[in-house]
Amino acid sequence: MHEEIKKAIGEHAADLVHQGMHVGLGTGSTAFYFIQSLIEKCKKGLKVKALASSQRSYDQAIKGGIPMLDINQTTSLDIYVDGADEIDPLKRMIKGKGGALVKEKILASMSREMIVIVDQSKLVDHLGKDVLPVEIIPYAYGSTLHHLEKLGYKGTLRKKDDGNLYITENHNYIYDIAFSSPTLHPEKDHEMIRNIPGVVDTGFFFHLAGRVIVGFFDGQIVIRP
Ligand code: 5RP
Repeated sequence: MHEEIKKAIGEHAADLVHQGMHVGLGTGSTAFYFIQSLIEKCKKGLKVKALASSQRSYDQAIKGGIPMLDINQTTSLDIYVDGADEIDPLKRMIKGKGGALVKEKILASMSREMIVIVDQSKLVDHLGKDVLPVEIIPYAYGSTLHHLEKLGYKGTLRKKDDGNLYITENHNYIYDIAFSSPTLHPEKDHEMIRNIPGVVDTGFFFHLAGRVIVGFFDGQIVIRP
């Protein structure tokens, strides 16, 4: 059921991609369906060029024959399509469960519009229901975590299934902050966390979401402007 919803919203998002567009590809299980749908459209004659927010999405796109842009020769995108872990009524989001938050934020901010594709489970009144991923550099990470914890941001360093620390594509760690209750001041939290030396970025995404395509469990798909 869940997969069908993700597939349907991925296809919906692909319908918003037009001939000649430069497209940003998100990361995650919902973005996967968007990329698959885009591949199908390209096979039928749609011509686009893309940038990917992760190696996974890059590999999928290349395998499907989508021509890719060079990140260092590209300064803007027409559209960026990605999922989210949480989105509130003001379209503020938490992203990064897939570990690609830094590249995702860069592509989202390069894009004329970010299309967010989520199922109903991602809609929240307040952000921080689940964890807030924060990317930190490995150097002196103990001190970075100490700073975070002193400010009250407690969490865990992300690990892989084999027990080793998870390493991002930028060769960094992810610290997943668990809020004791959802935050009422996400901008303030973002600011406080970002100001700690060693922190690369947080998974908060503000002022980036354009249209939001929501898939409801009853099969309805709603596009929020
Ligand atoms: C990856 C992300 C994803 O967009 C987010 O985790 C949503 O993924 P999914 O569509 O699998 O629920 O931020 O870093």
